[in-house]
Amino acid sequence: MSWIDQRPDDAMDGAFTAVGPDSVRTIEAAPFREAMSRLGAAVHVITTAGSGGKAGATATAACSVTDAPPMLLMCLNRRSQTYPIVMENGVFCVNTLGAGEAEIADLFAGRTGVSGSDRFNVGEWTTLVTGSPVLATAVVAFDCRIVEVRSVGSHNVFFGAVEAVRLGPQGPALCYHERAYKPL
Ligand SMILES: Cc1cc2nc3c(=O)[nH]c(=O)nc-3n(C[C@H](O)[C@H](O)[C@H](O)COP(=O)(O)O)c2cc1C
Repeated sequence: MSWIDQRPDDAMDGAFTAVGPDSVRTIEAAPFREAMSRLGAAVHVITTAGSGGKAGATATAACSVTDAPPMLLMCLNRRSQTYPIVMENGVFCVNTLGAGEAEIADLFAGRTGVSGSDRFNVGEWTTLVTGSPVLATAVVAFDCRIVEVRSVGSHNVFFGAVEAVRLGPQGPALCYHERAYKPL
């Protein structure tokens, strides 16, 4: 079965059109998730604030795109509460958690039942340029303005131009590997 039979989605925007002449036939989601669990990834809290409100979600899907101009990308599920608020605000901050911040990761992943702006009651928060919440104890924070958005399957890929960074306390970052938090 091809991906299009499993999950038709008019927001896909042609993102899965094969570049070559042959059609796309993916593996199933479960073995893909299992395979991805073998990759270690830094854990971030993606935050946003503005006319759409204040929100944040835990994410590992963030990485550098280019330094000319400084740009990163992050991926958010369109079903998350945070997604429409990021779209409305047009800005976000990627806060990379320190090794001791698993509690904040769980909080912003919705694992403790706290939702919306109440999540910001834990931790020390400040702002840089865009007004998105910046976690003072994060190892680093990238304050971004959205310059491009692509819908790909269940997620949207947000490209953010980096307008400011804040280097936090030096030390190990929080990583997610084989479905567990680990310091690196
Ligand atoms: C370690 C970890 C990594 C995650 N990475 C992502 C991610 O990259 N993108 C995403 O959309 N959700 C990711 N999630 C799930 C979101 O944190 C979760 O769906 C959260 O509840 C979204 O919050 P919201 O619905 O309140 O906005 C991750 C969760 C965990 C625990």
